[in-house]
Amino acid sequence: MSSAFVAPSGEQTYAGTTRYRRPARPYERFMAEQDIPVYRGIGVRDLRALELRPWARLGGNGAFIQTDGTDGQWGMFLIEVPGGGVTNQERHLYEEVFFVVDGRGTTEVWLEGGPRVQRFEWGPGSMFAIPPNANHRIVNGSSDPALLLAGTNAPPIMNIFSSESFVFDNPARLVDFADDGDYYRPPEDIVPDPVRGRAMWRTNLVPDVVNVELPLDNERSPGYRRVEPHMATDAFFCFIGQHEPGRYSKAHRHPSGAVLICVKGEGYTYTWPREAGMRPWETGQEHLVKRQEYVAVGMVSAAPGGGDWYHQHFATGPEGLRLLVWDGSGRSYYGWGAPGEELVASRVSVHHGGRSIDYEDEDPHIRREYVRQLERRGVAPRMGLTGPDRGAAPDAPSQTGRPKGA
Ligand SMILES: [Fe+2]
Repeated sequence: MSSAFVAPSGEQTYAGTTRYRRPARPYERFMAEQDIPVYRGIGVRDLRALELRPWARLGGNGAFIQTDGTDGQWGMFLIEVPGGGVTNQERHLYEEVFFVVDGRGTTEVWLEGGPRVQRFEWGPGSMFAIPPNANHRIVNGSSDPALLLAGTNAPPIMNIFSSESFVFDNPARLVDFADDGDYYRPPEDIVPDPVRGRAMWRTNLVPDVVNVELPLDNERSPGYRRVEPHMATDAFFCFIGQHEPGRYSKAHRHPSGAVLICVKGEGYTYTWPREAGMRPWETGQEHLVKRQEYVAVGMVSAAPGGGDWYHQHFATGPEGLRLLVWDGSGRSYYGWGAPGEELVASRVSVHHGGRSIDYEDEDPHIRREYVRQLERRGVAPRMGLTGPDRGAAPDAPSQTGRPKGA
């Protein structure tokens, strides 16, 4: 670009150019400076297949993952801690959650100037949260390497403040650890979440996301099970969901943010822009549909396009499909609108003002392909259209005008 500003010279020209490249934001520059791989795309079939490289800042080997649609909202990275190794101690203003892909060890968390170190053990399938600006380090207690997936809301914080010392060397105390020191106690009772009444845990440590028993929810498929662990300061939203073998979720749409991490079983996801309609194959819009396959542990961005994308998830293995869903946009999870405005949950049918496509309305290609996929694996389809999966309608409007749904 020339150094002198050129004003438009006639009615049909503009100042500047109409085609341009988006500049990297501060968080994206931070990722590039770490000199480890940055993986992009709508998903990853198998995290264990990704190449990692030595990461000086944290220690061990690492790689960033920035799935389509999550730019600027939240980010992920993989960290491999060698056998007997320890990550470099750090603290940062952003919240961080970890899921253990492989390995066993302990994590130490303490507040700057605070006497007490919170120490807890983890193993395969554990998930834990590091609250903002708490010092922490990850200790691999075994002789084998440990692989952990982390999610953070570093992108918005770095993009706003654009100062590494502000983010990584800040004296602010943003949480307190009670003297009894049990910040990392596994969840006990399931309680209704205060917004929608779905199953919730208040905890900062889930010992085994892969095998823990989940309560019935029925939202996306018959027999669907689900719980929301609310962790740390609740700035990073997550839930654990499970589809039964031989079943798949109804398609539904919402903006980008959620990433589904397959932690048990295997499957695939279709996702397509709302403009492609409810039956993209039948109407010749198939080229707009994206598909991601995954095994445990792989992932897919639920609505990668930034706008309102339909997405639909298919369990193909004999053990069904368990998903750990992360949406680091946290408090944006419940959607937009003025506080107190009544919203309708995405599970509600499009026939009733919601955003979910009933099984009987979906593109016939979807069921045909699903049955073929199951046949190849010798798994029986179980998609009888009875029960709570049929054309869900919203609940009656609440008296209080507060958000309500399922
Ligand atoms: Fe979704």
